[in-house]
Amino acid sequence: MKTNRREAIASLFAIGAGVLVASSDLLKAEAQSANTQNKSSAFKFTNYTALTYNFDGLKGLDKDMLEQHYSLYKGYVNNVNKAQSVMMEMLEAGKADTTEFSEVRRRLGFEYAGMRLHEYYFGMLKPEGSPVDEKFKKAVSAVWGSWENWVADITRTAMMRGIGWAILYYDPVTKGLQNFWISDHENGNPPGFMPIFVLDVWEHAYVKQFGAGGRKAYIEALFKNVDWTKVAQRLP
Ligand SMILES: [Fe+2]
Repeated sequence: MKTNRREAIASLFAIGAGVLVASSDLLKAEAQSANTQNKSSAFKFTNYTALTYNFDGLKGLDKDMLEQHYSLYKGYVNNVNKAQSVMMEMLEAGKADTTEFSEVRRRLGFEYAGMRLHEYYFGMLKPEGSPVDEKFKKAVSAVWGSWENWVADITRTAMMRGIGWAILYYDPVTKGLQNFWISDHENGNPPGFMPIFVLDVWEHAYVKQFGAGGRKAYIEALFKNVDWTKVAQRLP
């Protein structure tokens, strides 16, 4: 276990070298056990388990690509657990006021947001989708003037250059909706906003099937597999 943790710490520091996707060392590291959590007096954390999804029957989306994408999601879950485990060990060892600890803490935001956003994304997929929910249609039409205008605007957002996400958020302060571009996973999420429609436009989400220039075709295919009833249920 100690060797694994040393490897995990070294891997977490690799972010400085621009490594954004989970390193193989981290992916190989053992999941943190519930027992170890309970023995610690440093802090308690949730040991997450990856959610499961069925990718059968999605129209126009390659199942193998989705399963590879799901494997990346499981990597985020593993890394969230490992980062918390490493932080707890460092706290117990009196190493919390170090640059190494700071880098793990920083890395946790990336991994955690990556985990959660993928759950919103995979969680709204359904074979051949569902009819557009009238409550949702009414909500976006109130802001963009029509359903078609919202689709055009979220698509425009998703077509922005770079790796990240196009997200329709609900703002609990204004009770309004806004489309946002999120860089990586953790940069640009407005505090307190609630994700409603979450679209992954990292290249791993589409290049295998649609090619490097295929983002638009991927977005159009994905829209044919959205469970709008589930999306609408995310509205307060
Ligand atoms: Fe992704």
